[in-house]
Amino acid sequence: MRISKIQIKSYRSCENTVFLPDSELTALIGPNGSGKTNILSAIKLLSSLLYVRRRSSLKRREESLYTASEIKTWFNMNGKTVIHNAKVNLVVNEKNEDEVIESSESWYMFDITGSRKKAYIPLEIIYDISHFGKMNVHGSARDRSGFLKKYLEERGFDEKSLSVMISISEYIANISYYSASQFTNPSNCPISFEVEAEGNSGLRRGISIRSSHKTFLYNMYSEFKENTEAYSEFFNIVGPSGIGLIDKIDFKEIETSSSSVSVLTGGTVRKREKINLMVVPGFTISESTLSPSQLSEGTFKTLALIFNLVTDKSSMLMIEEPEVCVHHGLLNSIIELINIYSKEKQIFISTHSDTVLDNVDIENVFSVKRDSSKGTIVKNISKILKNEEMKALKEYLQTEGSLGEYWKHGDLENV
Ligand SMILES: Nc1ncnc2c1ncn2[C@@H]1O[C@H](COP(=O)(O)OP(=O)(O)O)[C@@H](O)[C@H]1O
Ligand SMILES: [Mg+2]
Repeated sequence: MRISKIQIKSYRSCENTVFLPDSELTALIGPNGSGKTNILSAIKLLSSLLYVRRRSSLKRREESLYTASEIKTWFNMNGKTVIHNAKVNLVVNEKNEDEVIESSESWYMFDITGSRKKAYIPLEIIYDISHFGKMNVHGSARDRSGFLKKYLEERGFDEKSLSVMISISEYIANISYYSASQFTNPSNCPISFEVEAEGNSGLRRGISIRSSHKTFLYNMYSEFKENTEAYSEFFNIVGPSGIGLIDKIDFKEIETSSSSVSVLTGGTVRKREKINLMVVPGFTISESTLSPSQLSEGTFKTLALIFNLVTDKSSMLMIEEPEVCVHHGLLNSIIELINIYSKEKQIFISTHSDTVLDNVDIENVFSVKRDSSKGTIVKNISKILKNEEMKALKEYLQTEGSLGEYWKHGDLENV
């Protein structure tokens, strides 16, 4: 599955932004404030649609504060196109994060069904079916899927179309977003965390969109325990045999127990012992062992980026400015990893770094600009350059030049 096109309307700086990303790697370049992050945030918004109704009943607010945005996404599934369109009402919180209040969503899947009709079904309902099977938090799910089937049939959607929508909802649930700003100020990082002795801590795997220091520590620990191969790959890169960022990482496990008391009807008292593990990560750097909160910000961000890249299990990955805080000697290897992984899954990055551009094919570079009347505009470089200009640039790159150098002179952005 790939995203082949996105149209973003009335969302932040994206007034009507049409974006045709590469199926492997897309590198967004452009001045500050041009809308690179907004494009990625619009894609992140899709994943909030999986949970709208469950949350919004708690958060209904003044209608006058809503903004009405529209995100239309073309999914390419084995060469067939499925279009999901979402009209969303949002409010923005004090951290400038979006909260979806309500959405109206439609599906158009002529390639699958042969029908030109649209089906109006929110992603959340689809995701519930895939996630909870027949059970559903809102009540009788069997009724709902029966109703759904009938509704789909009326629109010429067959059984298969529902499974396609389910695949798309799962794909969306596994979109990951990494930004170094998630890992600022390591002193905010806890120095230990607790897991149940059976291993489940209730923390979610993956670079979830709300990723935090603690999630990162937990993910590192769980890879260490369960997936020694991926963990070794990670450690080989950051450890003494790789870039030497760190000499050793260990996880001290301290058994703790807690008991809870519950009273059953009739007055029976039941006491339950629970064995927990307190996990204390330690990072050894030149013979001193540090808590995560004592690591330098650059070390922390680099560890998190490499860990997330190597162990990532997401369906699609977005990375903001991979160059932030990463030592330039290391950046080449990180871009190499990104290039390799982009063969398996679509990756979008935003960047201000000429080193990054030097390691990316020109076909993968997209320029983002902000027009005073049209808002954010994003285009592949090859669509902006005239044919002969593109030919000359390619020749220049093959002989003496580098894309980063060319960009530094401003030539990419001024065409
Ligand atoms: N909640 C918002 N509502 C409207 N516009 C916003 C909002 N948040 C940011 N913007 C606009 O988006 C611009 C930032 O775009 P961004 O995507 O962060 O740029 P960059 O290309 O540097 O990543 C801001 O200058 C502002 O004009
Ligand atoms: Mg940005």
